Amino acid sequence: MIPVITIDGPTASGKGTVASRVAAALGFGLLDSGALYRLTALSALEAEIALDDAPAIAALARVLPVKFEDERILVAGRPVQDAIRQEAIGNAASKIAALPAVREALVELQHGFRQAPGLVADGRDMGTVIFPDATLKVFLTASVHARAERRYKQLIEKGFPANMLALLQDLKERDARDTERAVAPLKPAEGAHLLETSELTIEQSVEQVLDWWRHWAGTQGK
Ligand code: CDP
Repeated sequence: MIPVITIDGPTASGKGTVASRVAAALGFGLLDSGALYRLTALSALEAEIALDDAPAIAALARVLPVKFEDERILVAGRPVQDAIRQEAIGNAASKIAALPAVREALVELQHGFRQAPGLVADGRDMGTVIFPDATLKVFLTASVHARAERRYKQLIEKGFPANMLALLQDLKERDARDTERAVAPLKPAEGAHLLETSELTIEQSVEQVLDWWRHWAGTQGK
C-alpha cells in the first residue's frame, strides 16, 4: 500500500507550507487539495457560472484541464498559481466546496495523486474522507490571530492588498462555513495527531510531523 500522510486544518493554519516541506524531506509527492477547489472556483468565475449552480460547477470540476508542474499550476496551459491565492478566490472556493456534487467530482482526481513512493496530502477532509486509510494523520491548528497574521504576510509577499481586520473577519466566516457544512466538514480524523502551531516555527512543526512519521516507520521495521 502506498503510504499517505494527511495534514488537515483550518484556513491559514500553515498546513500547505508544512505539507510541502514534509513531502520534500521524504521525497514524497504533494497534493494541495485546496488548490483544486480554488482552481474550480476560478474557472467557474471566469465562465460566469453562478457559485450555487452545483451541476454546472461539478461538470467543470470533472474535466479540469489542470497540470501540476513543480511550483506551477497550469490550467489549459495557463499558469494560475498566483491568481488562485487571491482572497476573493479563496472565498469563492469555500462556497463551492460546500456543494456535495463538486466534492464528489474532485474525488477521482485526488485519488490519482497516490503514487509511489508516497504522498503528503493537505486540506480539510484528507484524513476523514479522501484517504481514510492514511498511514499518518495530522490535524494542524493555530489561534485565529496567529492565522490572520500568517495570511496577511502571505498576501503582502505576493503583492496582493491585505487588511488585518477584514482578514480576521474573513477567517472567522471561512471557519464557520468549513466546520458547519453538511458534507466533509472540517474536523480531526479519528486517530489524528493534533498539532497546535500558534507558538511553533514552521521548522518545529515540520520536525514534529517527521518525528511521528519516523516513529511509525520504526514500528514497521523500516
Ligand atoms: O489557504 P486556505 O487554507 O484558506 O485554503 P485552501 O486550503 O487553499 O482551500 C480553499 C478552500 O477550499 C477552503 O476554504 C475550503 O473551504 C475548501 N477546501 C475543502 O473544502 N476541502 C479540501 N480538502 C481543501 C479545501
